[in-house]
Amino acid sequence: MTSENFLWFEQLSSTNKTAWQYIDKQSGFCIATGFQSSGRGQAGNSWTSEPNKNLLASYIFSLDIKPAECFAISMITSLAVVSLLKSYGCTAEIKWPNDIIVDNKKIAGILIENIVSGDKVEKSIIGIGLNLNQTEFAGLPNATSLKFILKKEFDIQTVARELQHCLITEFENNKKPSQELKKSYFELLFRKDRAMYRDNNSTFEGKIIDIDFDGALKIQKSDNCTESYYFKEVQMLY
Ligand code: BTN
Repeated sequence: MTSENFLWFEQLSSTNKTAWQYIDKQSGFCIATGFQSSGRGQAGNSWTSEPNKNLLASYIFSLDIKPAECFAISMITSLAVVSLLKSYGCTAEIKWPNDIIVDNKKIAGILIENIVSGDKVEKSIIGIGLNLNQTEFAGLPNATSLKFILKKEFDIQTVARELQHCLITEFENNKKPSQELKKSYFELLFRKDRAMYRDNNSTFEGKIIDIDFDGALKIQKSDNCTESYYFKEVQMLY
């Protein structure tokens, strides 16, 4: 199914990779597929999905955000996925930086690639993998899907278009990073009041006290000292 701002492919290596060929399309343009042979995850990991079971899509957005505030893109995207899930009757949380969690398990992952020009993030390729109809996740005890939770099947292309709508609305409502955006994201953070973390030096208990628009996570440790971490510098143990 193809329309002006939506392209469907039976199979691709990665929707994020293909999105680069469509980078000049209108903001909100979506590339979706039924199967990825080399799906990419965060931190150089791969993203696997059974064929034609889950949403695998990349959305291209034209933006005007400062590179130092580019974590706002993660916040906006996470809020859009949470709002999509809410429309299906499913309450989700966000595990920093942008894993989407339902019932303590990961239902969706987000991989964002930005094009920076001067002091501006001009374009963003927002790759989203959302588990829809897959119910077995070998070797991934912390994975879940909409079917697992709601006991019904979802049409992949319909969900990809509904998510496109949620993203367009959320980007429209958040043209500039704001305290309101940060508050909405913060309120949805998974285990923000207490969790175990591991950094390079130790394992510790902490509470999230703030997130900066540059992506820094501020954790107050149980001895009351506060530490700031960027992605990959700390891991929540769960
Ligand atoms: C993560 O590791 O949590 C991020 C996973 C992102 C996966 C999606 S699937 C669609 C898009 N294309 C890719 O190759 N990756 C993203």
